[in-house]
Amino acid sequence: MTGKNVKTWINEISADGVTVQQSQNAYIKWADKYDEDLEKHAFTGPGKVAQIVRDQILNQPVGDVRILDVAAGTGLVARELKKFGFRHIDALEPSEAMLKEAKKAHLYINYFVEFISESQTTIAESSYDVVTGSGLFANEAHVPCEALYEMIRVVKPGGLIVLCGRNHLLNDSETYKRLEPLMDKLESDKKWKKVLREIWPGYLKGIDGVAWCYQVL
Ligand SMILES: C[S@@+](CC[C@H](N)C(=O)[O-])C[C@H]1O[C@@H](n2cnc3c(N)ncnc32)[C@H](O)[C@@H]1O
Repeated sequence: MTGKNVKTWINEISADGVTVQQSQNAYIKWADKYDEDLEKHAFTGPGKVAQIVRDQILNQPVGDVRILDVAAGTGLVARELKKFGFRHIDALEPSEAMLKEAKKAHLYINYFVEFISESQTTIAESSYDVVTGSGLFANEAHVPCEALYEMIRVVKPGGLIVLCGRNHLLNDSETYKRLEPLMDKLESDKKWKKVLREIWPGYLKGIDGVAWCYQVL
C-alpha cells in the first residue's frame, strides 16, 4: 500500500514544473496500485474512448480492426476495447512499470516501449486503423501537442484517432492551450477531419472529460 490518494498522485505525475523524469518515477511507484486507485475514482476515460471507437467503426468487423493505444499505461483502454470484441491492440508506452501490469493481463499484442512526440517512433507509416489515447495529455511531462503529427502518420487514410483527457487542461495548462488550435490547423491543412468532440461529467470524480474523434485524410 502506498497510502496516497489519486489527487496526490495526479500532482506527482503532472503538477506544473514536474519533469519527464519525475513524472516517470512517480509512475514506477504508482503502477501496481494505479488500476485500483482509478477504479475507486470511477475513471471513465478508457470506457469513453472504447465506446467512441465502437460507435464509429462501421465498415469493418471489430475483430479485424488494428489499434494502437498511445500512452497505454496499465492497459485500461485495451480492457474496455476487448469488451466490444476488438483483439488487434498494440501499446505504445514509455513506462516499463506501467506496461508490466498490462502484460500480466495479456492486454496487448505488441508493446512499443517509447515516448511519442513530434519525432518519428519506430512504427511504420499507415500501420493502424485506429489510434486511441486516454489520459495522455497531463502536462508537459506527458504527450506533447505536436505528437498529433506522429499519430496521423501511423494511421491509414480513412482511419480514426480517438483521444480523451481532463477538459480543464485546455484552459489551465500552458501546454494544452495550444492543443485545440493545433487540432483545428490540422483540419484546415486537410490532414484530418473532425468526427466528434464531446464533453462529459465524471471523467474522474468531480472532473469533466473531453473526447475527440478525428478521421485521417
Ligand atoms: C494517466 S496515464 C494514462 C494511462 C492509460 N491510457 C489510462 O487511461 O489509464 C498516462 C500515461 O502516459 C505515459 N506517457 C507520458 N508521456 C508519454 C509520451 N510522450 N508518450 C507516450 N506515453 C507517455 C505515462 O508513462 C503514463 O503511463
